[in-house]
Amino acid sequence: VNALVVDEVVALTDDAVAIAFAVPTGLAEAYRHAPGQHVVVLHPHGGGVIRRPYSICSPVGSERMWIAVRRIRGGVFSGFATEQLTAGETLHVMVPTGSFTVAVDPAAARRLCAVAAGSGITPVLSIVSSVLESEPESRVTLLYGNRRRSSTMFFDRLLELRAQHPDRLSLHLAYSRQADDPHAMSGRINPDLLDQLMTVSAVDDWFLCGPEPMTNAIGSALMTRGVASDRVHRELFFDDSPPVTPAHVLPDNTAEVTVRLNGEDLHFSLNARGESILAAVLRLRNTAPYACRDGVCGTCRAQLVTGEVAMERTSALSRQEREDGAILACQSHPVSENVVVDFDC
Ligand code: FES
Repeated sequence: VNALVVDEVVALTDDAVAIAFAVPTGLAEAYRHAPGQHVVVLHPHGGGVIRRPYSICSPVGSERMWIAVRRIRGGVFSGFATEQLTAGETLHVMVPTGSFTVAVDPAAARRLCAVAAGSGITPVLSIVSSVLESEPESRVTLLYGNRRRSSTMFFDRLLELRAQHPDRLSLHLAYSRQADDPHAMSGRINPDLLDQLMTVSAVDDWFLCGPEPMTNAIGSALMTRGVASDRVHRELFFDDSPPVTPAHVLPDNTAEVTVRLNGEDLHFSLNARGESILAAVLRLRNTAPYACRDGVCGTCRAQLVTGEVAMERTSALSRQEREDGAILACQSHPVSENVVVDFDC
């Protein structure tokens, strides 16, 4: 975690701002991000500290690192950021993380399609602009849904990108509560649009970011159309679906747990029906990485070395990552007698 000075705050809509950080030269390497990654902002509240993940919206190689924050009802940090934060103030920011990314390759000649709704545009903007700016032979289609023009984050930036890359960016805006805008279709983003706007089989990689019903509907439609699951990348900002494996249905067993964290082995006993492995670790060391504690940001990702855990939610992990033994510590409960988890690898 580093204290970064806020260099600029720009209003994007009535309820959203973009925040630029001045990253000192000595930290430039640590804050170099892959497009689509996020940072976690720490903010004092009620005698403690809250942590909130925010996607980076600037492209790779930008001089300044930008994030975007939309105010949510009752949101402590988002309220502060959208109503009070000004240039010159300091925020505590963790280094970029997250696997909703694309490896930019200047020699690539591929076709990407991104589907975003609302503030889901934030990581998608970084992905789209990075690919357009760094891969001269690649083409991008972007479908972006909002309620109306006035709630559309980065509207001007997207039109600017289209003007800069008219042959390589195909931009389709959709408004669910406004029917008279010359720049946009009316209605929600739905699977039928995929067939109307593009040849699905010609797309190499898909990036979906927004509310779960939208990403689920588009993801299922892509599966139905034969798109391989490893070509579909998803990012959720909130997961209010019921847990897949609620802790209370797990066996009433106590496990011996070993956790490797920052080169140190921590040992404790933990009941499967009790708190998560992350919560247990945080009682011993407050350096364990986490942000959302909801299973969506991936900050608490660790490797399961020995034994078995049950996860309540797994949204932040791809199927491949799960098969490779990655776990979300904030969602994990030990279900074998011995469990070893490594945060360091
Ligand atoms: S802290 Fe966000 S997924 Fe665990």
